[in-house]
Amino acid sequence: MRIAVAGATGNIGGLTVAALERAGHEVVRMSRGLGVDLITGDGLDDALSGVEAVVDVTNSAAVDRGEAVAFFGTATANLLAAEARAGVRHHVLLSIVGIHRVEGNAHYLGKREQERLVSEGPVPWTIVPATQFHDFAEMVAGWTEQDGAATVAPLLLQPIAPADVADVLAEVAAGAPGGRHVDIAGPETQDLVDMARRTHLARGRTVRLVPTWSGVFDSAMAGEVLLPGPDARICPTTFDRWLAEL
Ligand SMILES: NC(=O)c1ccc[n+]([C@@H]2O[C@H](COP(=O)([O-])OP(=O)(O)OC[C@H]3O[C@@H](n4cnc5c(N)ncnc54)[C@H](OP(=O)(O)O)[C@@H]3O)[C@@H](O)[C@H]2O)c1
Repeated sequence: MRIAVAGATGNIGGLTVAALERAGHEVVRMSRGLGVDLITGDGLDDALSGVEAVVDVTNSAAVDRGEAVAFFGTATANLLAAEARAGVRHHVLLSIVGIHRVEGNAHYLGKREQERLVSEGPVPWTIVPATQFHDFAEMVAGWTEQDGAATVAPLLLQPIAPADVADVLAEVAAGAPGGRHVDIAGPETQDLVDMARRTHLARGRTVRLVPTWSGVFDSAMAGEVLLPGPDARICPTTFDRWLAEL
């Protein structure tokens, strides 16, 4: 199949391109650096010519609620309109487990808008909600790291390996549109502070971690809010196994 990946140069995008190519698909890679901009629409129509399915794994670093909703809303609307013009038969969106249970988080509001547009849009779809990735703790600690210390919220997660996410997306893109997919998650629950500590240890770095709910993630995200549903598809790669391959 000819399958396009929006966000092909990103963390999950690069792995998804590789998974699709391993399965024998012809992959069209889309990102601003590759001449396709979902916000302006530049390059979109040419890129989608002959494409049967699209996997959207774009991302925005916006921390402001309005900016996050504007990015995901505009990018998704432009992408879906171009897909409809090109006759794309399946739109696959990577989303996040728990975003409908948390109010106020800017990224989650953007993802909710993205899900709304996809589920009400013109192209048959599958939305794949994933838990946080194994590299999430290192990213979060990196947001505040200064003078050898970083703040991290003690979130309870069931993280998933980025390569496992990519494998599921490649499989889903090659299949029929399925609406809302079950949650996908890794095999074990983890504490975000402990994940950050062990990632730093594996990298040979010393960072003092300060647990707090006063950063981007507040206590509305405590408890089991971010855990996958009971029918979740559990992917195999443990956090320890992922750490061992860093
Ligand atoms: N991190 C987690 O734990 C987690 C968990 C579940 C779901 N997710 C979701 O996973 C998705 C992918 O995350 P990621 O970490 O793989 O992202 P990432 O590494 O930041 O990659 C983002 C990609 O989007 C592209 N992009 C950004 N703006 C664009 C635009 N205007 N037009 C076209 N392409 C654009 C980037 O390329 P250019 O800069 O070249 O445009 C890049 O290829 C996100 O939607 C996120 O919500 C993340």
